[in-house]
Amino acid sequence: DWTMDNFIDIQINNIREKVGDRKVLLGLSGGVDSSVVGVLLQKAIGDQLICIFVDHGLLRKNEGDSVMEALETFGLNIIRVNAKDRFFSKLAGITDPEEKRKIIGNEFIYVFDDEAAKLEGIDFLAQGTLYTDIIESGTKTAQTIKSHHNVGGLPEDMSFELIEPLNTLFKDEVRAVGTALNMPDSIVWRQPFPGPGLGIRVLGEVTDEKVEIVRESDAILREEIAKNGLERDVWQYFTVLPNVRSVGVMGDGRTYDHMVGIRAVTSIDGMTSEFARIDWEVLQKISTRIVNEVPHVNRVVYDITGKPPGTIEWE
Ligand code: XMP
Repeated sequence: DWTMDNFIDIQINNIREKVGDRKVLLGLSGGVDSSVVGVLLQKAIGDQLICIFVDHGLLRKNEGDSVMEALETFGLNIIRVNAKDRFFSKLAGITDPEEKRKIIGNEFIYVFDDEAAKLEGIDFLAQGTLYTDIIESGTKTAQTIKSHHNVGGLPEDMSFELIEPLNTLFKDEVRAVGTALNMPDSIVWRQPFPGPGLGIRVLGEVTDEKVEIVRESDAILREEIAKNGLERDVWQYFTVLPNVRSVGVMGDGRTYDHMVGIRAVTSIDGMTSEFARIDWEVLQKISTRIVNEVPHVNRVVYDITGKPPGTIEWE
């Protein structure tokens, strides 16, 4: 039996016993789960842990750098792979959301696989699987629906033994462990971010220009949410690019440019949600800044759909 107080000690002991003087590989996503696993393993086995961080070029603004910085402070040994070109060339011409997800998910495994193959003498693979991931992936149907979850994402021809120190925990418990490990709020309280990243927030084909519009507008949204102290009130907040152009007027002339959608929702577990009742003044400021600061945007709309019937993401 464990309590939050002795969970860390028990896990550290278990990991040391299991691993001995062998090596463990961990795929870091920047999310709370894999980050907590990383810090926990670092504490247990130090340099015997090797992390791979695949940057698919679909992260939010500055996200790759800040994840690296935060985790390297804890002494993690991280190989960062800038694989943007690989992902973008695979995604060229692809418009179907599920197809995009599949391509991104597979490419993750291929890139990880390629990097792992360069390493020698690795016996274990660590994963940030949670208790909920195991429950939700229990049946074949559930696995197909939740194709984005961690379970079953192992490269096929690799024979690692698995280490899943969080597989008895719920999300809030993982956050508590992270805090107990002195990890910063920026990681512990990071809002949920989908594996396919901005790739499913530009609707339709993924292009540099479209990703840039989402990345810049999203950065403005996050900045204003933080400025107004709303980070913990809103479960998830982001911008999307529907790939729709509309007419506007700027200065003396008419414009015909992109529309950006703002999605901000409250939720307990992501299964259902309501749109966040963000103050009009805050929304107005965000809208003005996005139109003024992000090239090729002349209109901003706010999504007032709940889940159901809408999903949180637009794809
Ligand atoms: P939806 O859009 O289905 O999202 O209401 C529910 C939660 O799941 C996240 N989400 C994903 N996470 N890969 C992920 O890792 C995905 O493909 C994916 N699609 C949605 C979404 O951000 C929300 O938190």
